[in-house]
Amino acid sequence: MSAQRQPQADTGLRVENLDVTFGRGGKAFRVVEELDFSVPPGRMLGLVGESGSGKSMTASALLGLLPWGGRISRGSIQLNGRELANLPERRMRAVRGREIGMIFQNPLSSLNPSMTIARQIGEPYRLYTGASETQARDRALELLREVGVPDAAQRLDDYPHQFSGGMRQRVMIAMALACKPRLLIADEPTTALDVTIQAQILRLLKRLQDDMQLSVILITHDLSLVAEYADDIMVMYAGRSVEHAPAQAFFRAPRHPYSHALLNSIPRLADPEQRLADIDGIPPSPQDFPPGCRFAPRCNRVTPECTQAYPPASGGAHRFHCLHPLGENA
Ligand SMILES: Nc1ncnc2c1ncn2[C@@H]1O[C@H](COP(=O)(O)OP(=O)(O)O)[C@@H](O)[C@H]1O
Ligand SMILES: [Mg+2]
Repeated sequence: MSAQRQPQADTGLRVENLDVTFGRGGKAFRVVEELDFSVPPGRMLGLVGESGSGKSMTASALLGLLPWGGRISRGSIQLNGRELANLPERRMRAVRGREIGMIFQNPLSSLNPSMTIARQIGEPYRLYTGASETQARDRALELLREVGVPDAAQRLDDYPHQFSGGMRQRVMIAMALACKPRLLIADEPTTALDVTIQAQILRLLKRLQDDMQLSVILITHDLSLVAEYADDIMVMYAGRSVEHAPAQAFFRAPRHPYSHALLNSIPRLADPEQRLADIDGIPPSPQDFPPGCRFAPRCNRVTPECTQAYPPASGGAHRFHCLHPLGENA
């Protein structure tokens, strides 16, 4: 299997100037705009923002799985030096199977209810590596053990419904890892799970990230999750990055008023239906993003110039887009 792969420098993921657009002509609107970020091997990026901020669209763009009508209209996505933006679907399919693993919120809807766990994990492995059925079964067993499913050998011939929610998510992770990907994208992977199981799954992801030196993107609306596990944080608002920093620096002193408001509402954000209590209003929809800073209509530091143009990036390793940031020692 590895003989088919080109030897590539393990530089991780590099996204530059990424735009995702729906529709054409006068009806076109962008749901993601000018995203710039990297995820080196062995690091976890926490991608955070309220519902509708463009987190899943970003993930879908990376995976080449945008919904109908959506396209990457600008920018570059490089994984270990290879350009993925607008790769033909046939080639992208192989990249998804082998080089990018994905984990979604609801494992039940991603698992095939009528297929045993062994086949579920083993089939894609067989498909992409040409392994025999016995080899695929061995690999499934190895992976189930790796992700901490107890009595793995006895559970190979079980069906998804015989697993608990947390164990199903472990099976999803095993599937994602089957072909030894370099990038793992987890989109709200623990939202459906209770708090204890949630912590177990995130610890597992963290261990795999370290052991396999994976680049990991953890997408969540819950800042308290990324606080504990992510190395870097990128906060999105209305399709754009508003702040992007090493986790420690971010949590010590968030510079963007939106990040600050998010942090202040951590306990409430655990419930995705709750609005940010400290700020009025709701995020704008992509069809009517305001000119200038998109957070301006909800911001208590707003001045007229905020509405002129999107604020350029300030700061170095701790980047933010705001004309009136909070202090460095906040
Ligand atoms: N199929 C679609 N066509 C057009 N716009 C969509 C589609 N699906 C979602 N959107 C819009 O894209 C924006 C970003 O959505 P999404 O990435 O799912 O947000 P998040 O994952 O941060 O909650 C939202 O404003 C949403 O309304
Ligand atoms: Mg989402």
